[in-house]
Amino acid sequence: MRARDSKWLAPRRRRFWASLFAIAICVILIVTLSWHFTNDRDSHHGPSRGSGSPSTPGGQKDGDLIWRTLPWNNPLGTPRPLPTQGSKALPAVQFKFSDESDDDKKTRLNRRDAVKKAFERCWTSYRDQAWLHDELKPVSGGSKDTFGGWAATLVDALDTMWIMDMRDEFKEAVGAVDKNISFVMSSSGDVISLFETNIRYLGGLLAAYDLSGDDRLKQKATDAGDMILKAFDTPNHMPIGRWNIKEAAENKKQTAPSSTSLAEIGTLVLELTRLSLITGDARYYDVTQHITDLLDDSQNKTKLPGLWSNSVDPSEAKFDIGRSYSMGGGADSAYEYFPKMMALLDTLDPVYDRLYKRSMAATQEHLIFRPMVPGGDDILMTGYASAKSTDDGQSTLTADAEHLGCFAGGMYALGGRLTSNDSDVEVGRRLTDGCVWAYNATKSGVMPETLLAVPCDEKTHCAWNETAWREAVGSDTSDDDLPPKGIATLKSKNYILRPEAIESVFIMYRITGDKAWQEKAWTMWQAVDSLTKTDLANSAVDNVDSADPKKLDSMESFWLAETLKYFYLVFSEPSLVSLDEWVLNTEAHPFKRRGVKS
Ligand SMILES: *[C@@H]1O[C@H](CO)[C@@H](O)[C@H](O)[C@H]1NC(C)=O
Ligand SMILES: *[C@@H]1O[C@H](CO)[C@@H](O)[C@H](O)[C@H]1NC(C)=O
Ligand SMILES: *[C@@H]1O[C@H](CO)[C@@H](O)[C@H](O)[C@H]1NC(C)=O
Ligand SMILES: *[C@@H]1O[C@H](CO)[C@@H](O)[C@H](O)[C@H]1NC(C)=O
Ligand SMILES: *[C@@H]1O[C@H](CO)[C@@H](O)[C@H](O)[C@H]1NC(C)=O
Repeated sequence: MRARDSKWLAPRRRRFWASLFAIAICVILIVTLSWHFTNDRDSHHGPSRGSGSPSTPGGQKDGDLIWRTLPWNNPLGTPRPLPTQGSKALPAVQFKFSDESDDDKKTRLNRRDAVKKAFERCWTSYRDQAWLHDELKPVSGGSKDTFGGWAATLVDALDTMWIMDMRDEFKEAVGAVDKNISFVMSSSGDVISLFETNIRYLGGLLAAYDLSGDDRLKQKATDAGDMILKAFDTPNHMPIGRWNIKEAAENKKQTAPSSTSLAEIGTLVLELTRLSLITGDARYYDVTQHITDLLDDSQNKTKLPGLWSNSVDPSEAKFDIGRSYSMGGGADSAYEYFPKMMALLDTLDPVYDRLYKRSMAATQEHLIFRPMVPGGDDILMTGYASAKSTDDGQSTLTADAEHLGCFAGGMYALGGRLTSNDSDVEVGRRLTDGCVWAYNATKSGVMPETLLAVPCDEKTHCAWNETAWREAVGSDTSDDDLPPKGIATLKSKNYILRPEAIESVFIMYRITGDKAWQEKAWTMWQAVDSLTKTDLANSAVDNVDSADPKKLDSMESFWLAETLKYFYLVFSEPSLVSLDEWVLNTEAHPFKRRGVKS
């Protein structure tokens, strides 16, 4: 086990923080007192709302309190109350599974245990070589800090260990979270990604708390949430996606940037709403619901009504500044969270229902295509749409299918169940099979990061035409260098241990009960493990379609948080993390749905 020097505040920093803390306390006292004497409003809604959090238990490090004690430059108004559950109960999500045969069970458990063994191997290496760092280097050994240095892999993997029944490892890791992680300074640079901090750290802590009920995790989740909240201290209360936390901790004035990705502002709502539900403090919900309202107001007014462009302008709250639209990186989870908010709140909330339905209809119109493949398989993929310069709501499609976009099948299937729309579930099935097809198409049996497909004009009929495929590949490609049939170009050939395809396969299995999904998952598992396995763990690779792929010495925390969790859950009893009780965030962290008794 290595010492964790960089993560700890150097003495000089410590003194700096101590004095800043003292100054902050004085400022707060003065502001609060003067405000008390000049105001007779309810004292819960004062200008220094940051100090209104519940008191913290013993063992709290001073540093964590910074985010609670800094006064706000742009105070929030009275937070809107948490949503009530509403009377419209949602339909069941999961298939009603019946008992399986002994043979089926034996096969299933063998497969499940193979996935668990892979997790244990990776965890042991992380624990030995990268403890408390963000990532293990799976080829060379050692560690790196990539996401603030708050032990991303450890926090991201907590709930997976609970789910895999690794209770001793879980306990040890929770102890480290409590004692050794403090959301103050970042050891990977002053600028952090709010999005990643939210989905990995806050999401990981909330899920581990929801599963285990350990109050230390609730406290740490609140610490992370209070830090994230401070990124909303801008004149229009829009958050800062690439956020300088050093300047924020010095309470410098902040403004939201003029350009960020849709995903960066649209993927905060599930985590912060869950934090509000757990703590009873409505502020976290309030700041993200503000974004939801703006999305709702603008949805029909964009260049492709129903969708928002991949780049948005938080400084002016303009959600249509680009011409490019997709379900891939930059947009993805903003859409994913519409049905998931309905699941979390356990109600057919009219706003999220509307956001979901309009965006899914527009996605089918502009982003989803049917690729031409040798067997003529009835599958779909998502690509990129460019709004035409005529601004008439028309678009041009680029058939770039990203691995990141493979979550869309699960989104349609879950949303289809929640809104009782079987045709959406079928779209989900076809999209998921599109990704399964792309896995099977390459030499390694694993889908690349991005491929260019050959789209058919129609989604109903798409016969294989080898001449057309060869033309799409291009005459300058020699016969020896042809990509797999059905693929025009392997645009990014790497695979970085991503989860989106198995995520959708898992959701399809739980929703339909069709065991064919378990077979697809097992084929995918064997291919992924054999392509990426190293002596220590598993690693990203440079080429999924090569006889000699190279390992890239990277294992992002989502491998343990998502990919291995979904593979494990496909082969587990359907009652383990049932989708009728849990909703998983975009980092596969399960949150308890509101209607479920604690
Ligand atoms: C974690 O915290 C405990 C208790 O404060 C301390 O003894 C230990 O050295 C810390 N571990 C690391 C790796 O910093
Ligand atoms: C937005 O567009 C949808 C679909 O075209 C339509 O049903 C709805 O009435 C529109 N809503 C508003 C507020 O304009
Ligand atoms: C289901 O959703 C699709 C769009 O995704 C829509 O066109 C269709 O009308 C919906 N069907 C029902 C029954 O609501
Ligand atoms: C995988 O590809 C092979 C041929 O390359 C084909 O025979 C097989 O049916 C495919 N399997 C799936 C599940 O698509
Ligand atoms: C196949 O594609 C080629 C090139 O696009 C085209 O000329 C030909 O008519 C197509 N064949 C069929 C049967 O559609």
